[in-house]
Amino acid sequence: MQKKTILTGLQPSGALHLGNYFGSILPNLELSQKHEKSIIFLADLHALNSIQDKKKLKEYTLDLATSLLACGLNPEHTLMFKQSDVPAHSELSWILSTITPMGLLERSHAYKDKKAKGQEATAGLFGYPILMASDILLYSPDLVPVGKDQKQHVEITRDLANKFNHIYGGSTLKAPEPVISEEVGVVPGIDGAKMSKSYNNTIPLFGTPKEIQKRVMQIVTDSKGVNDIKDPNTCNIFALAKLFLSEEECKQLAKKYTTGTIGYGDAKKLLFSAIEKYMTPFWEKYTELKNNPQYVLDILEKSANTANSIANRHIEKIKKRVGLLS
Ligand code: ADP
Ligand code: TRP
Repeated sequence: MQKKTILTGLQPSGALHLGNYFGSILPNLELSQKHEKSIIFLADLHALNSIQDKKKLKEYTLDLATSLLACGLNPEHTLMFKQSDVPAHSELSWILSTITPMGLLERSHAYKDKKAKGQEATAGLFGYPILMASDILLYSPDLVPVGKDQKQHVEITRDLANKFNHIYGGSTLKAPEPVISEEVGVVPGIDGAKMSKSYNNTIPLFGTPKEIQKRVMQIVTDSKGVNDIKDPNTCNIFALAKLFLSEEECKQLAKKYTTGTIGYGDAKKLLFSAIEKYMTPFWEKYTELKNNPQYVLDILEKSANTANSIANRHIEKIKKRVGLLS
């Protein structure tokens, strides 16, 4: 096990899908198992930028915690808490905002994309990278695993840590390294575009088996018949099946495609059984946890207590550095 601390945050912004699992949850859980200390927090303050409905925010946050536990997060090893349960995140965010140049935020992709789409950008969205920098710098992690789209935010975090240390002296804030998982490609949705909750093309991670089967049967294919020769590399069913099948099983399926011995209907059935085989233990754990929300809430509370003690110690040092505390 590597003697490093990893930290990442996940936004509770809706029902999770297979793209979230393979693109974010699985690589994060694998990485946390390899490192001595790991922190995965639920970024509910960030989610306020898009979820402005109290019932939904509460539901998505508990559901994200439940899903992470069902997927194998070990709460004895990984701290999993709600960002809003640790007030020091917001406190550091204000302190850092006073040294953040406007130009740095104006260059942020998340803000630029929203503006380019003609949507109203709030101060919350504009200042998002500062809150994210605070989330990270409070805990001094070595590594921050994120998707490619978040790399710029980790670079902003490094800039702010260095600027703070330069202004106030010492090495109070530690610039972290981003870890970008390149090998996980984009998981396609049932229409072949990137699977995303915004495109209504998802296969849910924790639907009922019936719901999931229905979505699998809706995967879009070309109109080739059972005995036609098919190209596995351009087929959405095959792209999803690859995530669940062993190398040998993949080879066998590819051969059926290229020899015209499987129809799309049967390929979908095969994909559903592979999903079912892989996911059944997670689904069972999820149902068990859904029936015992207090267990999940207790883990969040216990982790928040530990996180508060780490964060409070550090924010105290930071406040001393800037002259807010003596
Ligand atoms: P959505 O596109 O459904 O709104 P999010 O933006 O909330 O998903 O994604 C959360 C994380 O899940 C992202 O950081 C990204 O790494 C991962 N992710 C989402 N969709 C996919 C996908 N189709 N393929 C791979 N990774 C994905
Ligand atoms: N911005 C990240 C996302 O949208 C979530 C996040 C918030 C985060 N704070 C973080 C990720 C700190 C890593 C570290 O996916």
